[in-house]
Amino acid sequence: MMHSLRARLLWWVLLPLAAFMFVAGVMSYDAARHTAALLQDNALLASARTIGEDIEWNNGELRADIPPAALEMFESPYHDHVFYKVVAGEDRLLVGTPELSLPEGQRPYPVFYDTTLEGQAIRAVAFRRQLYDAGAALPVVVVVGKTQASREGMLAQLWHPQLIRQGMMLVLAVLLVLIGLTSELRPLMKLKDDVADRDPMQLEPVRVDHLPTELRPIVDAINQCIARLKLHTSTQRQFVADAAHQLRTPLTVLDTQVQCARQSAEDPAALADALGAIHRTSRKMTEMTNQLLLLARAESAPSPVPSVPVDMAQVVSSVLEELILAAQRRNIDLGAELGEDLRVAGSEQLLTALVANLVDNAIRYTQEGGCVTARCRRVDEEVVLDVIDNGPGIPAEIRAHVFERFYRGKTDVEGTGLGLAIVRRIAQSHGATVGIAPGEGRVGLVATVHLPAWKE
Ligand SMILES: Nc1ncnc2c1ncn2[C@@H]1O[C@H](COP(=O)(O)OP(=O)(O)O)[C@@H](O)[C@H]1O
Ligand SMILES: [Mg+2]
Repeated sequence: MMHSLRARLLWWVLLPLAAFMFVAGVMSYDAARHTAALLQDNALLASARTIGEDIEWNNGELRADIPPAALEMFESPYHDHVFYKVVAGEDRLLVGTPELSLPEGQRPYPVFYDTTLEGQAIRAVAFRRQLYDAGAALPVVVVVGKTQASREGMLAQLWHPQLIRQGMMLVLAVLLVLIGLTSELRPLMKLKDDVADRDPMQLEPVRVDHLPTELRPIVDAINQCIARLKLHTSTQRQFVADAAHQLRTPLTVLDTQVQCARQSAEDPAALADALGAIHRTSRKMTEMTNQLLLLARAESAPSPVPSVPVDMAQVVSSVLEELILAAQRRNIDLGAELGEDLRVAGSEQLLTALVANLVDNAIRYTQEGGCVTARCRRVDEEVVLDVIDNGPGIPAEIRAHVFERFYRGKTDVEGTGLGLAIVRRIAQSHGATVGIAPGEGRVGLVATVHLPAWKE
């Protein structure tokens, strides 16, 4: 299998051309052979006629003199052997080579035929003439034959120049096709260089002007890919910058807190306070780091995630089990309403993170003594998860922003601003949609996720 486009195009041009040349060559060989045979037969017949004309009666005897002109016409650089014989009546040899055979069967004269003599192929003609003497007719047959060297020579002379002409045409065609292909493929090579020589940071689109129309779709596709890559790189860069910024703040705080702890080395109560503060800050940083890792994992998850059946009833139950202590601490009534057949396709780990972030938000932002319910049910081909709380809800004007990374509402509650970004990312990779809306009677918040149900 050839991978070079040029070689393949060349092949497809040359293959039909060579087939055509071959057929033309065979045809011209045939024509040349025919012409050579015709010329030779004409010369043989002319020679036989000349001999025949010189046969005459001489004193009641038939005499056959061979005129030199009859044989001179065969002189050629090929030095063919020429044979002749003259037979009178049935088989009376007047002159010539007796072994030269006569044509077989009865045929109208003159007869052209192939025979052999002394092991050589001979082309011969038999020519008949009636000689009259005193009213009696006597048939006389003149046979002239010759070897084939001059015929082969003539054939070569006729045919070789044709062959050379066709060979030259083929070479010329190859050259022209090669030149044409090279110049036509130049834009493609230029395109290749343009893409291959790029610096990884250079995300400018490939230029489309001067490109043949066939290449436009490819370049457009490459450019779309570059545009997506550019967007992805810039969001990634922004994310790293934001993450560094978010971690820097608690690190600065930690530094101050450690200095503070050093200074209060003498006072055990102050030292305990300072260590407590250090502990809180480091916990916050751990939480931030965990959320960053989770988001990174959600983002690098293949989309769509590999399909394994995951039972949402189990996922919700395990999340509630994890968070029940946090809810009790805030005196929140945490409950679940689970329907039947809640299997979806996806990753159990990521779906657990999704539910955990929603329930965690509900518990965090709802006032003490509030109520949080995780409700999951099957609706046609979807599994619908609602996380309902009766907390403060999210004001309409910031609802559009809460899914952004690091976005936090005005609140005293601690957090990273990554929870809902993680939720949205996981939903996306599961082909799910996520939305938030005020709860019943405009109280609290309902976060709803529509997941496609598992199909066998
Ligand atoms: N159940 C909820 N009730 C009220 N506000 C919420 C709720 N869930 C999220 N929010 C608001 O959305 C913001 C973004 O949430 P999230 O992305 O989870 O980050 P974080 O919880 O770390 O602040 C929160 O800062 C909060 O203002
Ligand atoms: Mg949160």
